[in-house]
Amino acid sequence: MRKAIIAGNWKMNKTMAETKAMIAELAPKVKDADCDVVLCVPYTDILAAKRAAKGTNIKIGAENVHWAEKGAFTGEVSAEMLKELKVDYVIIGHSERRQYFGETDETVNKRTAAALNAKIRPIVCVGETEDERVNGLTEKVLYRQITEGLKGFKSKDFDKIVIAYEPVWAIGTGRTATATDANVTIGYIRKVLAKKFRGSVAEKTRIQYGGSMNVKNCKELMAEEEIDGGLIGGASLKADDFAYIVNYNK
Ligand code: PGA
Repeated sequence: MRKAIIAGNWKMNKTMAETKAMIAELAPKVKDADCDVVLCVPYTDILAAKRAAKGTNIKIGAENVHWAEKGAFTGEVSAEMLKELKVDYVIIGHSERRQYFGETDETVNKRTAAALNAKIRPIVCVGETEDERVNGLTEKVLYRQITEGLKGFKSKDFDKIVIAYEPVWAIGTGRTATATDANVTIGYIRKVLAKKFRGSVAEKTRIQYGGSMNVKNCKELMAEEEIDGGLIGGASLKADDFAYIVNYNK
């Protein structure tokens, strides 16, 4: 059975002081969660987040990682640097990075390899844009993102890799895929995994839904068979909302 994973994606929000306050408020509210609880935070908040989450069931993640070990890459952060901070997860290939920062399936692949080398669990984001959806390209786009982005990984790597299916048109817009649609599309991603990878990859890989997941729709989404969790943007910034989602089955 796949263990559910609810992860927050803070994006470019919260200072160190705000991080400390939020985690102090959140920790008692999520302590009995049955799922994995993760907060992916800006680099500058990682140390404060790790300290605040110490002794709790909250795991801390980063929002990106560079693929090179070290070198002349001004402004970038390596997997080794994150490893020393004992970061557990890292978001890779978020649609905002694809849209604004030139992320491609190839760079997603390289970043994922770097994270795995450092024993950090990658949360690899895929999803179609509104244009691609209305033009009937959803499956084609997902097929490409999965096969190129995850090319070369072995069955055991998928013990660590988490996939987040985030339809771009649903991110930050208040529009959610219906639970049924999200379930069908994630089922399609599982079919691609079954076709492209050996062993039990399709059955064991955890696949989250992301895109305006909130207190109103989380129970319905999480009730779907194929949906193993959520990647939560806006609703992860408030302790009460995020705790409600984490406790979706209570
Ligand atoms: P949202 O963001 O929940 O604010 O739509 C999700 C994400 O971008 O990961």
